[in-house]
Amino acid sequence: MSSVPQIWRAVVQNGAMSDVSPAGPGLTVGLRAVEARDIPMMAEIRASRELGGQFNFAGPMTVATALEDLERRFGADGLQGSTSGQFVVTIDGTFAGDVGWRTARWGPSPQSVCPAIGIALLPQFRGRGVGSAAQRLFVSHLFNRTPANRIQADTAIENIAEQRALVKAGFLQEGIVRGCEWRNDEWHDHVLYGITRADWESTQQRT
Ligand SMILES: CC(C)(COP(=O)(O)OP(=O)(O)OC[C@H]1O[C@@H](n2cnc3c(N)ncnc32)[C@H](O)[C@@H]1OP(=O)(O)O)[C@@H](O)C(=O)NCCC(=O)NCCS
Repeated sequence: MSSVPQIWRAVVQNGAMSDVSPAGPGLTVGLRAVEARDIPMMAEIRASRELGGQFNFAGPMTVATALEDLERRFGADGLQGSTSGQFVVTIDGTFAGDVGWRTARWGPSPQSVCPAIGIALLPQFRGRGVGSAAQRLFVSHLFNRTPANRIQADTAIENIAEQRALVKAGFLQEGIVRGCEWRNDEWHDHVLYGITRADWESTQQRT
């Protein structure tokens, strides 16, 4: 995939994410840039079906392998590349999981790209509205800091929690992508969700 415009490197500047929104009584969800101290837990999430969730688990991987890959990428660009990026989800400042984006391409023109986002929360933080709030924050962050005209997310057709979280974060269901993911020795269908800049701006005017 060719690289996206340079401005996309500036998803987070100076290690700071400014948006913070409440997600239920007494629970404050935030996003911030990845720091070196986060890398061991992020590696554990990647290597564990339980910690990362069954739909994020690509197959057996040792923590050491995940750690090596994350440390190499963190050392190269702080996990803020021109075609992908990672951020930490916090609850009251505590590490709760991570969100990330990668480039999806829809046509040959340089403009025909958009961020495709994903998320993994640690099990103890799921089911409390954090996934919806974190993805809503991430959408605002990406629209505020990049020229993206749309943001998309896809998830396994069986992953009801993520589908509901995406809708609560402002995404619309756009269709079924058949036979796209190889997991557990078989092909799986995904559901594609998207939010356009116009959708997002109309929600900003209402709030
Ligand atoms: C998917 C995930 C991000 C959702 O975040 P969350 O904080 O758990 O979800 P929320 O509390 O915001 O709930 C969102 C909606 O899903 C529903 N929900 C939560 N867990 C559910 C479950 N296990 N089954 C069905 N629905 C569920 C909630 O009831 C809520 O819907 P409602 O308000 O309309 O009733 C989180 O569960 C997670 O990290 N899971 C593991 C990793 C993963 O699957 N990531 C996505 C891969 S593409």
